[in-house]
Amino acid sequence: MTSLEASVEDLVLVAGATGGVGQLVVGKLLEKGFRVRVLTRNAAKAQQMFNQQVEIVVGDTRQPATLPAATSDVTQIICCTGTTAFPSARWEFEQPPNLIEWGIIFLNPQFSQAKAKNSPAQIDAQGVSNLVAAAPKNLQRFIFVSSCGILRKNQFPFSVLNAFGVLDAKHKGEESIVDSRLPYTIIRPGRLIDGPYTSYDLNTLLKAKTQGKYGVVLGTGDTLSGDASRIDVANACVESLFYPRSSRKIFEIVNKGERPPVIDWETLFTGLE
Ligand SMILES: NC(=O)c1ccc[n+]([C@@H]2O[C@H](COP(=O)([O-])OP(=O)(O)OC[C@H]3O[C@@H](n4cnc5c(N)ncnc54)[C@H](OP(=O)(O)O)[C@@H]3O)[C@@H](O)[C@H]2O)c1
Repeated sequence: MTSLEASVEDLVLVAGATGGVGQLVVGKLLEKGFRVRVLTRNAAKAQQMFNQQVEIVVGDTRQPATLPAATSDVTQIICCTGTTAFPSARWEFEQPPNLIEWGIIFLNPQFSQAKAKNSPAQIDAQGVSNLVAAAPKNLQRFIFVSSCGILRKNQFPFSVLNAFGVLDAKHKGEESIVDSRLPYTIIRPGRLIDGPYTSYDLNTLLKAKTQGKYGVVLGTGDTLSGDASRIDVANACVESLFYPRSSRKIFEIVNKGERPPVIDWETLFTGLE
């Protein structure tokens, strides 16, 4: 294949590897034969998930000093970090809120952001910017899992999703990547479906599955909406490495229509022109 860009000699860093999409990205990279390093806050969790198959570096995207050990010598970075769109324990409040404090948190987005230590502003905006700053200057690709709705923050349902600033934060993360002049691919999934079920939402509650039935649709300009399989989002991250046509592209991904026997990623990326 003439369009192959990545080589299995490459060393790919996955940030957010213990998350739903991140686990699938690691699995796919290993299946393709890549060398994989994971950036994690929890080495024991990563060790249990990936056994001896990946190199584990402990770090936190909020703490720039922890990042060079993870980014040194990597050829590509896939960033799947994130948290919940609405306040939850994963925002890591200074002190666990009581019932009344949870009420105040949900009534006051500014208050909740100020009290949280791992909110979207801290991970999706500042953390991504820190990771970009720590990336090797000769990085071949920075791949970022963002979200549909970045350009439709004032339209329902994205206005609700953005009530606590997750889309604002993802947008800032995207901007720091584009401004860095590193080669990038920014992937904006619809609502995530298929396991591992790591988010706190209806699809998780229902254990909603695509059952591998639906095709993959990519679009530009933030016009698509719908569900996106974590499996296909992870596939898009890894397949992007192989095709120069996916470089310097920002695209949405959702699942729609009948699934063909094989997903032709090259044609999908070519259609983004
Ligand atoms: N849920 C949706 O419907 C939806 C829709 C569109 C886009 N997205 C985005 O898609 C991406 C993947 O979603 P997902 O459900 O797979 O995510 P997830 O399961 O919530 O995983 C998030 C990952 O980020 C890591 N992380 C959190 N804070 C960190 C920090 N400060 N430093 C380093 N790593 C940190 C977590 O590691 P720990 O194990 O250490 O916590 C975890 O590995 C996310 O960016 C999400 O915002 C989600």
